[in-house]
Amino acid sequence: MAKTKKIDEEQLSGKPPPLPVGQRLLENGCITQAQLDETLDECKRNDQEAYLIGHLLVEKGLITQSELLNCLFQQFTMERVAYQLESNVPAKIRFKGVEKSFDGRLVLDGLEMEIPAHKITAVIGISGGGKSVTLKHMVGLVKPDKGEVWVDDNNLAEISDKQLNTIRKRFSLLFQGGALFDSLNVYDNVAFPLKETTNLDAAEIHSRVTKALRNVNLSGIEKKFPDELSGGMQKRVALARALVIRPDIILLDEPTAGLDPIIEKAIHYLICDTFMRTRYTMVIISHAVPAIFDWCHHVIVLHQGKVRASGPSMDIKNSKDPVIRQFIKGELDGPIKFV
Ligand SMILES: Nc1ncnc2c1ncn2[C@@H]1O[C@H](COP(=O)(O)OP(=O)(O)O)[C@@H](O)[C@H]1O
Ligand SMILES: [Mg+2]
Repeated sequence: MAKTKKIDEEQLSGKPPPLPVGQRLLENGCITQAQLDETLDECKRNDQEAYLIGHLLVEKGLITQSELLNCLFQQFTMERVAYQLESNVPAKIRFKGVEKSFDGRLVLDGLEMEIPAHKITAVIGISGGGKSVTLKHMVGLVKPDKGEVWVDDNNLAEISDKQLNTIRKRFSLLFQGGALFDSLNVYDNVAFPLKETTNLDAAEIHSRVTKALRNVNLSGIEKKFPDELSGGMQKRVALARALVIRPDIILLDEPTAGLDPIIEKAIHYLICDTFMRTRYTMVIISHAVPAIFDWCHHVIVLHQGKVRASGPSMDIKNSKDPVIRQFIKGELDGPIKFV
């Protein structure tokens, strides 16, 4: 299957998708070749990433936001199809028989799990099922009672504190709640991880913060404080802060919790857009079922402290497992008991 192999190699190399956004918009008849060429030139003149051409085209009024979103969605759907055909990619993070109890209650019951490298993985499961605890294991914030957590070739339990700190710097975390610092304005919130973890000078920090905010479509709000922003804007600032350090792995814990469906879609779009540009390994804990299936390559279903299913999102979405079906449909009757 030469075709599958080629896609696989492209995916493993972590390169941007074969068809750039501008080309796809052209193919879809959203813009003309002349508009594409002119806008690409403009990107070059302004020293902007060519990938951001979509944003520029929206700014210029040549395409609508939904045309851009649909275009990204098409690109990503192609990736998901390719991943469904060939999902055998190396793991970035591995859980081997991880057990964890709190106050005598078993939360993780011998968890065996692999997070594929350079893909978006969604972790789903009922509330209180141990999703956040699982995420905290990945950065060594919570340690297993039994079993091992590996990041690439590192067993987190066996490395020194110094090595663990180095590995942690490769992660970016958006905690559940995504709290911003209330006493800091947007600029200082986003700049915070750069000041903490890098030696960049003020000019470079300014440039990175400005770009990070532009990438989440929030230019010009640098001086505002968190309580002056809507819930959706706060989440986007938190996302900009998570992305500003250019990590290797991004962990997002319920990035759309408490948001309305339009903002939820916008956040999913932004996460996917960021992925297409950067190819980071991403793990998203999400309650946004079934919407999240469209925005990730891989889904892991946690149930009763174990992995109930793990595979390409398209396969899990069509799973016949009654537990998974009940969860996807949100039905009260079924194998999952609440009382
Ligand atoms: N630090 C902690 N101390 C005691 N119990 C905890 C701690 N962290 C999580 N738990 C418990 O572990 C279970 C799983 O929590 P969590 O991972 O937050 O669930 P969710 O799947 O909703 O993210 C819950 O019963 C929670 O109360
Ligand atoms: Mg949680």
